[in-house]
Amino acid sequence: MSIPFNLLPAGKTLGIGCDLVEISRISDAHNRHGQHFIDKIFSGEEQKYCMKQNNPYPSLAARFAAKEAISKAFTVGIGEHLGWKSISITNGERNQPIVQLDANAQSLLKKLGGQNVHISLSHTDTTAMAFAVVTQ
Ligand SMILES: CC(C)(COP(=O)(O)OP(=O)(O)OC[C@H]1O[C@@H](n2cnc3c(N)ncnc32)[C@H](O)[C@@H]1OP(=O)(O)O)[C@@H](O)C(=O)NCCC(=O)NCCS
Repeated sequence: MSIPFNLLPAGKTLGIGCDLVEISRISDAHNRHGQHFIDKIFSGEEQKYCMKQNNPYPSLAARFAAKEAISKAFTVGIGEHLGWKSISITNGERNQPIVQLDANAQSLLKKLGGQNVHISLSHTDTTAMAFAVVTQ
């Protein structure tokens, strides 16, 4: 299988961020707040991908972690400059996670002099994590 070079972070690293999420935190929030919680945090594409898994919560938790990890890589956190749905994680042809940014997040990325945001996700039965890299 040939791997396109553009999968690799190109250019200088401008920021990194990681996050760990207990999966029960996401399932508890869903049970407590219902679809409102899901719609507040996750894009339609994220919801579609996660809800087709046997257990959606590890994938939802990993995407929650991805948003926080990227917000740390930007050093702004989730809030005024970056909303939960400013970031959406889709999946490529080999199931690799791909970061999609809305116009706000893209303009933040440009202000930092960045061009790409790379993400890696992982989950066990109890915990999900994400690691993000912003590159020039
Ligand atoms: C930046 C943010 C993602 C940190 O996440 P957190 O869950 O509070 O904290 P974590 O345990 O994952 O990480 C803590 C570490 O993040 C790092 N950190 C804190 N602020 C940071 C920033 N602005 N940029 C990068 N890293 C930051 C610190 O190293 C901190 O460790 P320390 O306290 O030992 O120094 C968080 O402030 C945020 O924006 N959260 C989303 C807001 C929200 O609404 N949360 C409620 C969930 S519904």
